[in-house]
Amino acid sequence: MAAAVESAQPSTLPNGNGSTTANEHRKYHAAETPYSLPNDEDEWERLDVQHYGIKAYFGGNNVGADWPENPRRILEIGAGSGAWAMEVAYQFPNAEVIAIDISDVKPDRKPENCTFKVVNVVKDPWPFAKDEFDIVHCRFVTVHLPNFKELLDKAIDSTAPGGILMFEDIDCDFVSDLMPVPAAIPNFFDIYRTFFASVNVDARPGPKLAPHIMASKKFSETHEYVMPAPMGAWTRDQKLNNVGLAMRKGLVGAGQSQHGKLYKFGMTQEIVDEWAKAVCTPENKLYMDIYFVWAKKKASVV
Ligand SMILES: C[S@@+](CC[C@H](N)C(=O)[O-])C[C@H]1O[C@@H](n2cnc3c(N)ncnc32)[C@H](O)[C@@H]1O
Repeated sequence: MAAAVESAQPSTLPNGNGSTTANEHRKYHAAETPYSLPNDEDEWERLDVQHYGIKAYFGGNNVGADWPENPRRILEIGAGSGAWAMEVAYQFPNAEVIAIDISDVKPDRKPENCTFKVVNVVKDPWPFAKDEFDIVHCRFVTVHLPNFKELLDKAIDSTAPGGILMFEDIDCDFVSDLMPVPAAIPNFFDIYRTFFASVNVDARPGPKLAPHIMASKKFSETHEYVMPAPMGAWTRDQKLNNVGLAMRKGLVGAGQSQHGKLYKFGMTQEIVDEWAKAVCTPENKLYMDIYFVWAKKKASVV
């Protein structure tokens, strides 16, 4: 699924060893943002691998949520390649799907009822009205945002009475219940989290989504599904192994394509390589918890 990119900002900052980073050939957002992942064709492919793994696991783009039969307006926040937004637009031809992203996502082909808009959800005024959307979806975005709860509050506000809010994100760490976690894992994540803390980004938003949604008291039901995505086909659950393999490809790709600004915080190619090796060793029996949360807004909210 091809999508044009908005900006080119090669990563040329020095890494911990004084040489340039491994990611000089990648393109990044030109906009001032803590976002550390590229916005090029390879990135859209990486996201599509994750997208199709998750879709196959849940058997659809609703990931278990109880969608209205005839939604009128649907919002996708942080659309990435646009795969989710476009598929949902094809699924509901009478609905208007609005897909926003800090990048100017331009798919080669898209359904007419799907519109892409450039919005920086951190800096730009929120362009949507209260109660505007029957479905609001946001996946793997809060983990990149300063004060992600501000975005969550805006999304809560723009979900229509009776509508469905879906927020999905990771608890950014690799853990194991069966084996010792190799040192390469905290070696990477300590630097990763130090960088993100410096720009006020919480790298572990997943477990905080459902409690924040419930605390708003605007939803009649809130569901949280925690997927322990295995890094390799090491569980007895083949379905889980399949989505884990897709997520492993996506997560390792994300770790390897971080912007050079992380290298200012001590990241080196060696640390990334060791981390990737540990993640891709099934004998380590590592997994990452991914939180899939959906909630139904009360029919009338006072
Ligand atoms: C990891 S990708 C996830 C994309 C898509 N939701 C998916 O699951 O495939 C995060 C997306 O959030 C977008 N993003 C990051 N910061 C943003 C911001 N401040 N405003 C709008 N979009 C942002 C990025 O451009 C990227 O497309």
